[in-house]
Amino acid sequence: MSIRREDSPPDRQRDSDSDQADETRLAQPKASAAGFRRRLSGFIGVACCLGALILVVRLIWNDPPAGNQPVPAPDMTAAPPNRPVELPTGDYVGSAACQGCHPNQHGTWSDSYHRRMTQAATEESVLGDFNNVRLSAQDLDVRLFKEGSQFMAELVFSGADKHIFRVVMTTGSHNQQVYWLASLTDPRQMILPYLYLVPERRWIPRHSAFVNTMCLVDRPELSVFKADFDRWKTICIKCHATHGQPNPVDEAGRPLPLPRVAEFGISCEACHGPGAAHVRANRDSGATANGVVNPARLPHDRASEVCGQCHSVSFQRTDEAHQKWLQDGYSFRPGEDLFADPMLFISRGRKELMPAERPDLPDLVEFGSYWTDGMARAAGREFNGMIESPCYQKGKLSCLSCHEMHQKDGDKRSRAEWAAGQLKPGMDGNRACVQCHDRFNNPALVTQHTHHLADSTGSKCYNCHMPHTSYGLLKATRSHQVSSPTVAESLQTGRPNACNQCHLDKTLAWTADTLTGWYKQPKPKLTADEEHVAASVLWALRGDAGQRVLMAWSYGWQDALKPSGNTWQAPFLAQLLDDRYDGVRFVAHRSWKRLPGFSDFDYNLVGPPPSRSAAVERARQTWEQLQKTRNRPAVGRQLLIDPEGRILDAEFRRLWNLRDDRPMVINE
Ligand code: HEC
Ligand code: HEC
Ligand code: HEC
Ligand code: HEC
Ligand code: HEC
Ligand code: HEC
Ligand code: HEC
Ligand code: HEC
Repeated sequence: MSIRREDSPPDRQRDSDSDQADETRLAQPKASAAGFRRRLSGFIGVACCLGALILVVRLIWNDPPAGNQPVPAPDMTAAPPNRPVELPTGDYVGSAACQGCHPNQHGTWSDSYHRRMTQAATEESVLGDFNNVRLSAQDLDVRLFKEGSQFMAELVFSGADKHIFRVVMTTGSHNQQVYWLASLTDPRQMILPYLYLVPERRWIPRHSAFVNTMCLVDRPELSVFKADFDRWKTICIKCHATHGQPNPVDEAGRPLPLPRVAEFGISCEACHGPGAAHVRANRDSGATANGVVNPARLPHDRASEVCGQCHSVSFQRTDEAHQKWLQDGYSFRPGEDLFADPMLFISRGRKELMPAERPDLPDLVEFGSYWTDGMARAAGREFNGMIESPCYQKGKLSCLSCHEMHQKDGDKRSRAEWAAGQLKPGMDGNRACVQCHDRFNNPALVTQHTHHLADSTGSKCYNCHMPHTSYGLLKATRSHQVSSPTVAESLQTGRPNACNQCHLDKTLAWTADTLTGWYKQPKPKLTADEEHVAASVLWALRGDAGQRVLMAWSYGWQDALKPSGNTWQAPFLAQLLDDRYDGVRFVAHRSWKRLPGFSDFDYNLVGPPPSRSAAVERARQTWEQLQKTRNRPAVGRQLLIDPEGRILDAEFRRLWNLRDDRPMVINE
């Protein structure tokens, strides 16, 4: 997701505090006249939170110089789109050139989310509702509509400043779809400030889809809708297209006006390397595999690095590398050693593990993208996680141990089922691990090891060794760093251990005692709260925004509701419906609706704060009513519920007031 790898030379980097200072400064002048005047404020804002480094030009709709009249909206539908150019250059030939000889691989790829990552906006690609939809929040009113086959967006700021854009491009198609707007006068793409949630069929403000300080809308002095330009070509192009070149030049070395890619989306040549020589060889001299790379034939590290180009956090080594990237795109090609790449290096989470070239880089741990022991905390960083696993470092684990990029003949799953995760058959279960740890081929030994029934979710290797401790796309996702649950990890890093993420009603003390009994792990020292209050409750109330959002998700996770019961989570989710972070509120609401009796509870995620506290009150009352009608109401000191089934309010407040409110930036 919108992680920013480093983009700009060191002298242009800022940390997130100075970023916010900038925003505040910019936001101060108030609009003084009707009509609008857009003033490019230049390269001032640093959009990203990792300290990072992305220069964003912002539109500011205020402080208009005297004498400027509103600019009439031009007829956008007639003009060619100001869209990045899709053109295979150099040794790239594009996927169409492969289809004839490899129809099966082309077909399975075509049905994968990789293919649809970036698309021109067409009837086929646009999933969002553009049927004259009106959306309003803060100082922005949006109307989404169609003109002929064109998708259009009208943006009205502060009730007066009207802009009409054409939608030229889309990003994503599985969980979320993001839209790119272009104006006639400006070749840069602006991001539509709303995104479409595909499964929910719903628009939400784009900033509401993240756990990120830039998304804190309870700072009314800031318009969160300030427009971003160039975000696509400075950030997203890196991982969302094949062979992207932000500032390409023509044969004579003259700058071209638009960014260029070999292909929108993640196409054949992103994983197999440029195909010109291979196509030529097959045309000229008959069947040969030469000229392309098959990741399945590479050693496990080289194979994984093909994926690691994009499924990672990485940094550019030097300013020079940055400039070269802007013009020519990345130098890495599949089959090469990603760690020896002259342009990029892969972040290892902990600063002491990072190469020495860039002492100026921020410590990613601090901002929330990594847990303090260096484990990746944000989704889309599977490569960073996997390479820290013992199975990779001491064994031959690779992405292709579990995933496949083309569905094979004879696979009984539907194409759609396969495409969601692109796992090899059976690799959603214990086979993924037993393929190497073959002593667990014996169900009795599995039970002996896990202490859960053989068919229990508590006997699934993934649930203890790759639990849902990463966050992104409004959900918790599996950590790709294989590790074992301990209470110590929770105490030292704040990361929920796998046992308490499933046994939501249990304390850390319960887990510590059980782990001592089962695995002889030493019992760490615990505080009174850790002894007496369920661990999930502590994370939900007292945790930082990243812990709160993981608990908001876990409270709706079916595997966890089975052993933990589902009648007591409502008051905690209700509290999270009024969290400072939109992302936390959204995930809490989704889980809330999965609890029995609340499926039609309505609530405006982006409503003003008073409406949200009213919703919390209403939610609490609904639960209290339900408690009274239940034969066995939820009770328990560790759940902060008294024997009559009422919340222990003073305790609840005390813990909520202890909440860790340090700014969180989970860079998905
Ligand atoms: C470092 C590589 C990288 C960059 C840069 C990046 N993304 Fe992503 N993005 C990913 C990966 C990997 C995923 C898939 C994550 C997953 O499925 O857990 C993803 C997923 C997404 C999705 C969800 C797609 C879907 O079908 O649900 C959206 C939307 C998205 N990114 C938007 C953006 C935008 C907008 C930008 C630029 C501001 C951006 N990303 C920059 C790697 C990146
Ligand atoms: C004119 C026909 C032709 C075209 C066009 C073609 N290929 Fe191939 N490709 C072949 C043949 C033949 C083989 C060898 C098949 C074999 O070994 O079974 C092959 C093998 C491969 C392999 C497997 C290599 C290996 O080492 O296992 C990959 C990957 C591949 N092609 C990718 C591509 C891509 C990507 C494109 C488009 C850029 C492409 N091919 C275009 C004919 C073609
Ligand atoms: C995201 C990476 C990725 C993309 C995109 C991709 N492939 Fe592959 N391809 C792989 C991997 C990995 C393998 C090894 C087998 C597997 O995982 O299914 C493979 C295997 C192959 C093979 C060998 C035969 C086989 O199925 O194992 C051919 C041929 C091939 N790909 C062609 C293509 C063509 C043509 C395209 C585009 C239409 C394409 N691939 C897109 C990653 C990719
Ligand atoms: C050029 C960048 C790029 C490369 C190379 C790449 N991916 Fe991805 N991958 C992405 C992006 C971006 C997404 C998000 C697509 C979406 O979900 O719409 C994604 C999504 C995925 C998904 C989730 C699909 C879903 O939505 O459920 C899996 C699994 C995956 N990639 C595995 C791999 C593996 C394994 C490899 C290497 C063989 C690989 N990818 C290579 C960029 C890349
Ligand atoms: C040991 C098996 C295993 C390995 C190795 C593995 N994965 Fe996964 N991966 C999974 C499982 C299981 C899921 C969850 C699928 C689901 O819930 O549908 C997953 C999910 C994903 C997702 C989707 C995340 C989400 O939920 O949005 C992406 C992207 C992904 N893997 C990429 C990779 C990449 C890239 C590598 C190599 C760096 C890799 N995986 C290595 C098992 C594995
Ligand atoms: C490609 C083979 C491979 C796969 C697949 C694999 N592992 Fe491993 N794993 C290894 C190797 C090799 C080691 C190192 C063994 C050693 O140190 O004795 C290891 C180590 C481990 C360890 C740590 C052992 C220790 O003493 O610290 C755990 C835990 C583990 N694996 C669990 C899993 C789980 C769970 C899965 C599935 C999600 C899995 N592994 C998948 C090969 C693999
Ligand atoms: C209920 C949770 C749980 C489940 C499920 C689980 N494990 Fe473990 N596993 C642990 C714990 C806890 C440890 C660490 C033990 C210690 O502290 O020494 C561990 C340690 C390991 C180790 C390293 C020590 C050893 O015994 O070799 C391996 C390998 C391993 N697990 C593999 C697996 C595999 C494979 C599966 C699935 C068949 C699995 N585990 C399922 C909890 C679990
Ligand atoms: C994915 C969910 C899941 C995870 C992870 C999990 N369990 Fe369980 N656990 C269950 C379920 C379901 C049961 C009910 C009995 C069964 O299925 O075996 C259970 C039962 C138990 C029991 C006995 C019943 C009780 O409530 O007293 C204990 C003790 C226990 N688990 C401890 C642990 C410990 C310790 C860990 C971590 C090492 C762990 N569990 C990880 C799901 C899980």
